[in-house]
Amino acid sequence: MRTFILRARKSVTKPFDIDDLSSAGNMQVVASCIGNALWVSNNVRSDTVVHVVLEGPPTPPLTVTFYGAAIKDLPFDERGIAFFVNKAIKKSIKMGDSKEVSPGVMVSRKSFEEVVKAHTETSAVFYLHPKGKDVRSVEFTEDVTFVFGDYIGMPEKSESFLDKLGAERVTLGPVVLFASQCVTIVQNELDRRK
Ligand SMILES: C[S@@+](CC[C@H](N)C(=O)[O-])C[C@H]1O[C@@H](n2cnc3c(N)ncnc32)[C@H](O)[C@@H]1O
Repeated sequence: MRTFILRARKSVTKPFDIDDLSSAGNMQVVASCIGNALWVSNNVRSDTVVHVVLEGPPTPPLTVTFYGAAIKDLPFDERGIAFFVNKAIKKSIKMGDSKEVSPGVMVSRKSFEEVVKAHTETSAVFYLHPKGKDVRSVEFTEDVTFVFGDYIGMPEKSESFLDKLGAERVTLGPVVLFASQCVTIVQNELDRRK
């Protein structure tokens, strides 16, 4: 299984206008990461799960999870994917710990740390960082998890948390990329090793 965990530090946790994603804490970053992780030409990757941890106002954190194997009718454009995220946020109002939003989409109150920690038990965890080990020299096992930041990046204390958990830093190259570009490159790297 391929898992991506995006920390979206300003993306809102309240319903937003899908025609104005920038005002929702740059929700277009979240949507493009989901799209790039799950979509290939004419198909959704069934071997991929994406967790987006929304940490914007008013009630962070909220984690929306997309399961490629179960999702139905996922749009491939940012606005359409944002509609799914918005639906998850609306369903989270007055929920307990977690809820199914639609087939293959879940929402929970898990924090970034909780989501990452849970994956260390079942998967090798890597932190995407421009100054890590070259992705081309990393050996990947079947179950891999990639943690990455949004346009703001990862706070220092979270980097220490990831180091303590043993998440290896992996670089995709010398240039700092958009989060959504990182997802495409990782997927391609894994595809080429099948
Ligand atoms: C747009 S970048 C963040 C830029 C932010 N201003 C910073 O300095 O961290 C989004 C995320 O993509 C990942 N990333 C960007 N370029 C990368 C690279 N060359 N190799 C590995 N990960 C990268 C990192 O996880 C980063 O937090």
